[in-house]
This record gives sequence, structure tokens and C-alpha cells, in this order.
Amino acid sequence: MINLIIPAAGSGSRFSEKTPKQFVKIQGIEILEMNLLTWINIKLVDKIYLVLPQLEFEYNKNKYQKLSNKIIPIIGGSSRAESINNAIKILDNKNPYTLIHDGARPFVTNILIKRVIEALKIHNAIIPALKLTNTIKKVKNNQIINTINRENLISVQTPQGFHTNIIKKAYSNINLKNINFDDSELVENIKEQVFYIEGEKNNIKITTQNDLDYAEFLIQKYFKK
Ligand code: C5P
Repeated sequence: MINLIIPAAGSGSRFSEKTPKQFVKIQGIEILEMNLLTWINIKLVDKIYLVLPQLEFEYNKNKYQKLSNKIIPIIGGSSRAESINNAIKILDNKNPYTLIHDGARPFVTNILIKRVIEALKIHNAIIPALKLTNTIKKVKNNQIINTINRENLISVQTPQGFHTNIIKKAYSNINLKNINFDDSELVENIKEQVFYIEGEKNNIKITTQNDLDYAEFLIQKYFKK
């Protein structure tokens, strides 16, 4: 069976309101709940380590545990890495694979999840990503320095998948205060090969008000249950 870590302990919101983005409702359904409802139905995933903010932890813990007995609520930390590390410490080592998926990416599909799991049969670490379509330029103070060849660039998403022993090793000895890395980067740092598969365009991370508006459109068009 498979472990899943969902970091949803961020307190920040780049929206105007105070609610952290994962708890915002779109068309009556909360972003995090929509995300969890997809994962709960993946039979191979039997442990969902749901990392929640310290603030109102008891309330949220009870709320999400009602959704499924697969959910194991955990208190988050001050950075995404610290939040994930709190889950890494208590992972089920008997499960050979561990997936990590952002709480704020509610449009993950069964198909993408299955493709990541399938790829883990061949590789130790796998990430979904998209090729870039816009031209990319390096800038400094509003001035163009140069144009980057986008042929070899990708934009990375979650769920990222890892062999459990590899992600545990990657998380041992890291600086948890450093907020600017993703999980696969930690695996690169221990000299393990990371491979990528094609991600999905609609698998957006909801960060800005614009993302919220787009999410509303996506729910209307594709995801209304
Ligand atoms: O801030 P960012 O968009 O990178 O956050 C990605 C995910 O990590 C979000 O789902 C957020 O709730 C989570 N996170 C966390 N603990 C933190 C900061 C972010 O679980 N301290």
C-alpha cells in the first residue's frame, strides 16, 4: 500500500481574505476537501498524513477524520518542509511508496495519480511537470539580461512520488527553516535520480485571486459532481 502526505498547514493567503487558501470554498466546496475526496477513493493509498495548522487543530482534526479513517491528522510547522517533516517522522515504513501532494491543488485526477504510482515501479523518484510554452527571459531591475532556451525547462507540480526509504533519507539532515525547495530537490541533493512524467494543465496550485476565479471555471466545466 501507499503513504500520502498532504501539507495543508500554510497560514498564508495571497487573497484579500484571512482564510488560508486551502480552506477557501469554491462553489460551496472547500479546496482541501475537494482534494481529499479524490485521494480517499484511491484504493492503493491507505494512509493519508494530513498536515494541518496548529491554530484550530482540534476542530480541523475532527472535521477531516470524519471524511475517512485513512486520514491521520498532524500538526504542521512554520515552513512547508517542517510540516512535511512532521509526517515523514511517523510514516509507515512498510509502505514502499510515499506520495506528497499540496493541499492547495484540488484538481488532481485519478489518472495522474495512477501514472505517478505506475512510474514508481521503475523509478525511485517521480514528479509530474509541464513543458514551458512562454518564452523565458532572465531579468534584473526591469531589464532583460538574456533569453533562456526553454527546450530543457519544465514547470513542476505535485503529486510527487518517492520510494519511502529515499524520501526519508532526503529529509534527514535538512535545514527545515529553508522554505524555498521542493521535495524532489531534496532527493536530487542526495544524488538520487529524479524522473518526470507529463503533468496536467488543470492541476493548478491555488495561490492568487486569479487562480480562484479560474478554479471556479474549472469546477463548472469539468469537475462538478
Ligand atoms: O506556500 P505554498 O503554496 O508553497 O504551499 C504549498 C502547500 O504547502 C500548501 O498546501 C500549504 O498549506 C502547505 N504548507 C504547509 N505548512 C507550511 C506552509 C505551507 O503545510 N508551513
